[in-house]
Amino acid sequence: MAIPHPRDIQLAVVNWLDDRYPFTKAVDEALYQRVPNFANAFYYCFGGMVFILVVLQLLTGILLALYYVPDASGNPSPAYTSVNYIQSTVYLGWLIRGVHFWGANLLIIMVLLHMARVYWTGSYRAPRELNWMVGVTMLLIILVFSLSGYLLPWDNKAYFATEVTIKIAGLAPPPQLGVFIKDLLQGGSVLGPPTLQRFFTIHVFVLPALIVLLMYVHFRFIRAHGISEPM
Ligand code: HEM
Repeated sequence: MAIPHPRDIQLAVVNWLDDRYPFTKAVDEALYQRVPNFANAFYYCFGGMVFILVVLQLLTGILLALYYVPDASGNPSPAYTSVNYIQSTVYLGWLIRGVHFWGANLLIIMVLLHMARVYWTGSYRAPRELNWMVGVTMLLIILVFSLSGYLLPWDNKAYFATEVTIKIAGLAPPPQLGVFIKDLLQGGSVLGPPTLQRFFTIHVFVLPALIVLLMYVHFRFIRAHGISEPM
């Protein structure tokens, strides 16, 4: 029996899949999109760079979560020692942690540059107002990512910086709302182990789910509108 050529096997598999769901059509529609020439300008890449950085944060975050222990009980706490362990003992742990840290900083800069481009080209105007609002929500999510991640090493800097963060959040008007937000974030009368548990949950479950969902909405909007014309 003749050995089939790898290309024929590939074709047979694709055909088999396509008979069950139009995968080829779906992938073609998702990937092959004509883009106007003016979108070649470097500042039209900022949004894509933000996307790549978000993916990098998700990947390095998953790797960190393999070793990080969200437990602030005892002294030194498992949270603190696990971060030390990642930094000093885990193979390339220092690199993964460093990329996650600097990626977070770069992400904020890139989002602001992307936002500035959208503002400068007037792309927030009709019919793109809703997408601008989705963008503002994602900007806030990225800032909350940073604020919640800052507590996780559970060292002195993290502890006292987060005390300030929570105090500011607790001043939101009206006073009842501020107190509610403070209690919700802190999980007790002082900043302690329940706070770390909550910040960890927000940082690794709530925010990633939200941002992935909103990026999907953002991209569906961009596809629906097409990239905006230059002024
Ligand atoms: C996670 C954050 C974000 C990601 C991954 C993202 C990604 C993108 C991408 C890939 C584009 C295509 C054009 C380009 O790259 O410039 C785009 C366009 C756009 N973005 Fe974002 N973006 C984010 C945040 C924001 C923010 C903070 C705003 C504004 C507050 C915003 C508002 C818009 C608008 C209005 C467009 C359409 C622009 C046009 O048609 O010219 N985005 N975004």
